[in-house]
Amino acid sequence: MAVLEVETLGAKVLREKASPVDTVSDEIRALIRDMFETMYDAEGIGLAAPQVGISQRILVVDVADESEERHVHALVNPVIVESSRETGTETEGCLSIPGLEETVTRPLQVAVEALSPDGEPVRIEADGLLARALQHEVDHLDGVLFIDRLSSLKRGILLRKWRKSTGRS
Ligand code: NI
Repeated sequence: MAVLEVETLGAKVLREKASPVDTVSDEIRALIRDMFETMYDAEGIGLAAPQVGISQRILVVDVADESEERHVHALVNPVIVESSRETGTETEGCLSIPGLEETVTRPLQVAVEALSPDGEPVRIEADGLLARALQHEVDHLDGVLFIDRLSSLKRGILLRKWRKSTGRS
């Protein structure tokens, strides 16, 4: 197991559409273990493979809901197959844009179909923070970051501040 380096805003891999996984191999399972370790090390609640430089459709989440029940999932080739019409607005952050947080509006409930680390089909009906985390991570697999879901005005202001505070140009 290893803590992997987390790619940050500006890395090309974060903007690529990730490829589907052909076979859920031992190599993929090892990557999933490393992704969990990396996520926990960074104190995140979700991580997508492109964030560790691997352009494949894999995500991990570990989210506690309001009743403190933990939802731990590793999903291969996840697809959002249903989204509720009702939306909610909550604060999000991203390990790839450390220190930047902003409220994002997303559907409150989603259903996701994917393969488990054993290569078995799974379906997850999610609401609350889990639904939000899954949408955020699936976005990463399409090269989309949460800041893309803000107005361009808001995004511009936030990014200017972020670049200043992190000393990036
Ligand atoms: Ni993220």
